[in-house]
Amino acid sequence: MAITNAYRTRSDAVPLRSFSVKGRPSAIAGVGVYAPEKVITNFDLEKMMDTSDKWITERTGIHKRHIAEPGTTTLSLATRAARGALDAAGIAAKDLDMILVGTSSPDGPFPSIACRIQDELDAPGAVAWDTLAACTSFVYGLAIADSFIASERADTVLVVGAEVLSRMLNYSDRGTAVIFGDGAGAAVVRTAPRGAGFLSWCLGSDGRGYAQVTCGNIEKGAYAAKDPQPYIDMVGPDVFKFAVDIFIRQANEVCAKAGVAMEDIDLWVPHQANFRIIDAAARRIGLPLDRVAINIDEYGNTSSASIPLALEGAIRQGRVKSGDHVLLAGFGSGLTWGACLLKWA
Ligand code: ACO
Repeated sequence: MAITNAYRTRSDAVPLRSFSVKGRPSAIAGVGVYAPEKVITNFDLEKMMDTSDKWITERTGIHKRHIAEPGTTTLSLATRAARGALDAAGIAAKDLDMILVGTSSPDGPFPSIACRIQDELDAPGAVAWDTLAACTSFVYGLAIADSFIASERADTVLVVGAEVLSRMLNYSDRGTAVIFGDGAGAAVVRTAPRGAGFLSWCLGSDGRGYAQVTCGNIEKGAYAAKDPQPYIDMVGPDVFKFAVDIFIRQANEVCAKAGVAMEDIDLWVPHQANFRIIDAAARRIGLPLDRVAINIDEYGNTSSASIPLALEGAIRQGRVKSGDHVLLAGFGSGLTWGACLLKWA
């Protein structure tokens, strides 16, 4: 679609909605991830379009991205991550009350990926559906899980973020094709002791910015009518400014709501959209990079999968300990954003 550039960064004008957690506490009990084996490096892209490893590395921090082979579905990535999360949490699939999948690249409009995972895992009966908030979907999913557990409508929830974005890329558009990759991540959310788990949330959207990141000819409703070019398009520099701004404001909001000082954040796990976005926000928040989870060099931007992929990497590296304050934060198309502060249980 032709993107109008009417929307500039206006997130300063948007009042943020934030909440401290009330009701029964919940926490992340296990995380699992999966990324396809095939890798495309910056040097591979140099042969496909007018770009360079130097430009991509300096402007984004990305060195490579994992790409699904033809025939590999979003479902298959999601299911592998889901099984990993169940194993890490020591939970049987039959104990799940709810399955939530965040994806912008489902294998089809319906049935949901969540229902298909439910079938793969043999977990009939759980409530299952997909959420679409682009790169913020995983945080929105965690928020739904926390709400259902707080209100005692669920005890155990599986939240998944999974994407095969490579099929939405126009490999003649160097502004987007170098950035995105495929992958999946999942977390089991369960009841937690009081004082542990999710402490506070900041969630919101600003639809005035809908044209900043799009996929397909949305003005013509072309998705349902078999859009021949369902490609990701974005106004990169504007999204960049919005992202830095919303990362900073969200971090301040969730810390204030939880009564936790910024210097007491042990690990920040931001959505991996661009190293320079993360670096700029971290500097202004006052967090040194050794307290930030960064894996964009390996995966690029995997949208809803990026936060669980980065979180799992940090857990595997022994960077998350019981009692640590962990801040998860995302933003994406919509425009959407979401952050939460956890005391790791
Ligand atoms: N290789 C070489 N040159 C390039 C490339 C490339 N891959 N891409 C752009 N350029 C060129 C441009 O053509 C431009 O050239 P010009 O000055 O001759 O016109 C120059 O580099 C600068 O282009 P900008 O777009 O201004 O570059 P910028 O530094 O802003 O980087 C980027 C672009 C990486 C997209 C950055 O703006 C960004 O990361 N934005 C945020 C994107 C984002 O976070 N999206 C998340 C939402 S995703 C979702 O929700 C699904």
